[in-house]
Order: sequence, then C-alpha cells, then structure tokens
Amino acid sequence: MSDLASIGKQGKYVGNEKGEDMDLAKSARAVRENAYVPYSHFKVGAAVKSASGTVYAGCNVENVAYPEGTCAEAGAIAAMVAAGDTEIVEVYVIADSPEPVTPCGGCRQKLAEFAKGDVPVTLANLEGMEATLSLRDLLPGAFATEHMKKT
Ligand code: THU
Repeated sequence: MSDLASIGKQGKYVGNEKGEDMDLAKSARAVRENAYVPYSHFKVGAAVKSASGTVYAGCNVENVAYPEGTCAEAGAIAAMVAAGDTEIVEVYVIADSPEPVTPCGGCRQKLAEFAKGDVPVTLANLEGMEATLSLRDLLPGAFATEHMKKT
C-alpha cells in the first residue's frame, strides 16, 4: 500500500469534527454534484480558500475530446483568479473514491502556482475519510521560477 493510501486508511479527520473548515468541505462536496463527467462518471469537487478568506469551488468538466477536460482543482483556481485572488491558504478535494482522492500531478503543479509548500491540502471521500498533507508533501521539488534562473 502506498504511503498516501495508508494515510487515507487511517481516516484521519481534520477540522470537521471541531467545526473548522466546514465551508471549504461543504463547498467542495456541493460543487462536486455539478461535475460534468459523461465519460469517466467520476465526479470530483475542489475548494480553495484564499488569503482573503473567500472560498472558491470547482468541479471537473469533461469533453468528448478527452484531453480537453479540466480537473476540479483547475476550476476552483480559475474561479479564484477570475475573482481577483491569487493566494491559496487551504485546499479541499473530494470524490467518491475508496480512499481519499489524491490530486493528479498536473493539479499539484497548478496549486503550487498559488499556494506555498506548507498549505494544507485535505483529500476526502464521500464516506468521510480525510487525510491532510502539505502541498510540499504532495509535490516535493515543485518546478518554480528559480529553476529558470542561471546562477
Ligand atoms: N480529476 C479531477 O478532477 N481532479 C484530480 O485531481 C484527479 C482527476 C478528474 C479528471 C477526470 O474528469 C476524472 O477525474 C477522471 O480522471
């Protein structure tokens, strides 16, 4: 079992039992219902909280030309940027998966554009299993502007 899968198995609850992060979790769970997934039938909901405290939600939107589909995280990020926010302080992703759903590699990099390494990313499934990792743990060695500078 992968490290991530074993974390999910622990069903570590972060926030919800204490009433914290409810908006983020609720938003992600609610927006997931609107996912457009005629091909995978796998609905994903994502919510990001910006430094201003605003929560932005997004769902996956598939396309008959499969690579043109977009992930839930990308939708949430797009909503945030469209609203004028650019700093993510918290992330929540949920799907109907046996283990808390894990963001794809591309979405980890997209999150890294707007979130620092210590930003908590909560992965969840519909049964209430949650695992919270830092973005740094999800994407060690993220590509950054520093890599484009010759010293
Ligand atoms: N998906 C997401 O929305 N976010 C992820 O991080 C993982 C994958 C979507 C893309 C596609 O619509 C479906 O899940 C199956 O891959």
